[in-house]
Amino acid sequence: MRTGAIVVAAGSGERLGADQPKALVRVAGRPMVAWSVRALARASDIAAVVVTCPPGREREMAAALGDDAPVHAIVPGGSSRQRSVAAGIAALPTDVEAILVHDAARPLLTPALVDRLTARVTDVSGVIAAAPVADTLKRGAAGDVVEATVDRAGLWGAQTPQVFGARVLRAAFADAGDAELDAATDCAGMAERRGVPVHMLDPGAPNLKVTTPADLRLAEVLLGAGRIT
Ligand code: CTP
Ligand code: MG
Repeated sequence: MRTGAIVVAAGSGERLGADQPKALVRVAGRPMVAWSVRALARASDIAAVVVTCPPGREREMAAALGDDAPVHAIVPGGSSRQRSVAAGIAALPTDVEAILVHDAARPLLTPALVDRLTARVTDVSGVIAAAPVADTLKRGAAGDVVEATVDRAGLWGAQTPQVFGARVLRAAFADAGDAELDAATDCAGMAERRGVPVHMLDPGAPNLKVTTPADLRLAEVLLGAGRIT
């Protein structure tokens, strides 16, 4: 299906604590956001890429992407991740049949993962990158005391990219109110709540999210170690 991609890159990166928005921080020789846009540009079915950026940073974003990572539009994001996704959806060409949403904070994206996800999506369903939880899970009570060990059977960690039939994702956003746009942490949750079947696909390779300075160092090693993109 003809797929439009949104890379959400409008966050400030508070937990990373850099002197610029997280998506613009360089990792292994490129601004973080450029790794993802480059991977999307090399995938088979991506017709257009929209990048959301911190309001007022559009010129820096364009410079960060350069010619290596072509985009359809750079648009200002919103005050929450899902509001940034909404801004991205509004900027996509109206004729796309599927919509892929990806966090700029996951720079290890590969064209192969994009192709696997877009190959599986239908116009009435979603497919998301996700991995079965490997750690033993504890629920904490007051302070650092364990209240319970949580059965991890059937639990997965949701990642991005997340791909949906364009009509069902647009409908979910059209239906969402302010509270949901402020609180939802991914698109799959919004789709699930409206009865859209969402499938999970394990990338089987690191797809780490850069949140802290330690994550950034790890991404630097993984991206710098001669990955083929
Ligand atoms: N994002 C966005 N618009 C927002 C908030 C987040 O486009 N208003 C994007 C980020 O740029 C990131 C992704 O959503 O690519 C996931 O968010 P997160 O990792 O939390 O990034 P930040 O919000 O930038 O980081 P922090 O929460 O530490 O400030
Ligand atoms: Mg955040």
